Amino acid sequence: MLGQISREQDLLRGPRHVAIIMDGNGRWAKARGLKRSEGHVQGYLNLREVLRYAVEFGVEVLTVYAFSTENWHRPQDEVDALMELVVTAVHAQTPELISEGVRLRTIGDLSRLPDRAREALLGVIEQTAHNTRINLVLALSYSSRDEITRAVRALSTQVASSALSPEDITEEHISRLLDTADLPELDLMIRTGGERRISNYLLWQGAYAELYFSDAYWPDFGREDLRMAILDYNERERRWGKTSEQVQALSEEE
Ligand code: FPP
Repeated sequence: MLGQISREQDLLRGPRHVAIIMDGNGRWAKARGLKRSEGHVQGYLNLREVLRYAVEFGVEVLTVYAFSTENWHRPQDEVDALMELVVTAVHAQTPELISEGVRLRTIGDLSRLPDRAREALLGVIEQTAHNTRINLVLALSYSSRDEITRAVRALSTQVASSALSPEDITEEHISRLLDTADLPELDLMIRTGGERRISNYLLWQGAYAELYFSDAYWPDFGREDLRMAILDYNERERRWGKTSEQVQALSEEE
């Protein structure tokens, strides 16, 4: 019983920043004889639920992979359905995001999105900019390699104009040019749908993140699944390349 209580207390000092690769919508739909796009609608409905649980478990930032750079190569009707879902979802959810204190943000190359989707997103980003309860970060037209390429391009421009010399470039310069510049360190990355890959997601940011894989298809990933992922995270010792003894000595100093 005591063990149970302390595990529940652990949940409260869980990860600040959680990222999710929401995989398995297509297979969820196929198993029910539905269209893939219907799986994405169900995935969106589940994201609304999981956001609530993330608030309950004290997560400060939830960064979800909604559309990757590679997803542009999917069949056009699926791409169109996903973009339309973004517009519908933004319009439907804005009042609730505002009243529930959710700050919506995006990472990725929004310039590639259809105008309607980009404008809807920019509107809700502005309307929720002062919310502080939780940050919901949608990765849209996002891939890590694309993000890092854009950062390198920006850095090269500074070097070319002699504003920065190559030997002065630090990891900090790169971090500051990534889409996630003002977000806290990534603590936990979850992938649903049974695959054990990172798929070009938050490669730089996930350098020391704990990884958690769930076999549940994203539309089925519920409160208990998130709770298990967070408890699992809390039981791991994060060492950032140090020894266990060094980490313990540091935490005793705090
Ligand atoms: C991967 O599953 C999922 C996606 C490519 C899209 C994820 C999008 C959502 C959950 C909707 C989010 C909506 C908004 C408005 C933010 P998959 O299609 O690759 O599944 P499969 O591996 O089973 O084929």
